[in-house]
Amino acid sequence: MRAHNFGAGPCTLPLEVLEEAKEEFLDFAGTGMSVIEMSHRSPEYEAVHNEALQLARQVAEAPDDFEVVFVQGGATLQFAMVAMNLLRSGEKGAYVVSGSWGKRALEDAKPHGEVYAAWDGEQAGYTTMPESTPEITPGTRYLHVTSNETIGGIRMVDFPRAEVPLVADMSSDYLSRPIEWDLFDLVYGGVQKNLAPAGMAVVYIRQRALENARRDLGSYLRYDWHAESKSLGNTPAMFPIYLMGKVLRRFVAAGGIRALEKQAAEKAGLIYQTIDRSEGFYRNPVGEKYRSHMNVVFRLPEPSLEALFLKEAESRRMIGLKGHRSVGGCRASLYAALPMDSVEVLSEFMEEFARSHRAL
Ligand SMILES: Cc1ncc(COP(=O)(O)O)c(C=O)c1O
Repeated sequence: MRAHNFGAGPCTLPLEVLEEAKEEFLDFAGTGMSVIEMSHRSPEYEAVHNEALQLARQVAEAPDDFEVVFVQGGATLQFAMVAMNLLRSGEKGAYVVSGSWGKRALEDAKPHGEVYAAWDGEQAGYTTMPESTPEITPGTRYLHVTSNETIGGIRMVDFPRAEVPLVADMSSDYLSRPIEWDLFDLVYGGVQKNLAPAGMAVVYIRQRALENARRDLGSYLRYDWHAESKSLGNTPAMFPIYLMGKVLRRFVAAGGIRALEKQAAEKAGLIYQTIDRSEGFYRNPVGEKYRSHMNVVFRLPEPSLEALFLKEAESRRMIGLKGHRSVGGCRASLYAALPMDSVEVLSEFMEEFARSHRAL
């Protein structure tokens, strides 16, 4: 029996994709080799690679003036690469610090250019997002935002209409809602939540930004190098790319990004409803408008009850519900491949647990 996997990433992948990969694992496309054994210059792999690039563009509905690149090193490398590539001498990077990841993005950019927090939600315990466009100082090149804070369970709903282009870390709600491309010069995210096994980031970068990007960097650190080589400048993360292609194909078949958005809202809606109907047994600290559709965080009345909740959940094969170690509590991550069935099982368990422990 498959676990109900509420992990924050890596996390569950579609069963059909895993089965397909298992089926092809020893002999891919009649080559007598596994896809992880073949040359990345082989025609069989190139077909996989090019299809994944094309699907990443198609599902995101990225306009023609954006390049799509696959870069190893996860979203964390992007924190540095964004500043390295986009900040020229005298230019500054502005950051919305909406949670732990926004803060990391700012910290990691510091060695590579002048960066500052244009908005900081720490005082409010990272439970809200900017209500208006943050103030930008002259010489700012971009405003960096985090579309979904995985640890705080908070999402950006209205992206700022800033005087400068936005750069977004969309790791934890990647391709779960349409992207307003006009606002962005660059969008990136690690793939290990909605899209694929861990091992790389997908980056969308506007051609104009690419033309102006710095080139005095080691080749792997340059976006233009990845774009010009179609992400085949060196050996790419072949297995994640191969599996991501299969996941993206399913996204297309399921109706594309709007269908994914609807599914995400329904899954999250059920757990928030369970929280709101629990008469305070479960508490979610996030302002209602900003509640994440991917990571639902909640507390129980006592830490001891939280421990019991997690233990009982695990005994029913619901795993990954422990909140991030920095904040504690519980967190249900409801990424794209998590079936509605699992969400219903969790909701029923939460109701039952609240009934039996409310009076204690
Ligand atoms: C929003 C966000 N940004 C960045 C990261 C870091 O990603 P990676 O582990 O791919 O470097 C994570 C990881 O969970 C995340 O949730």
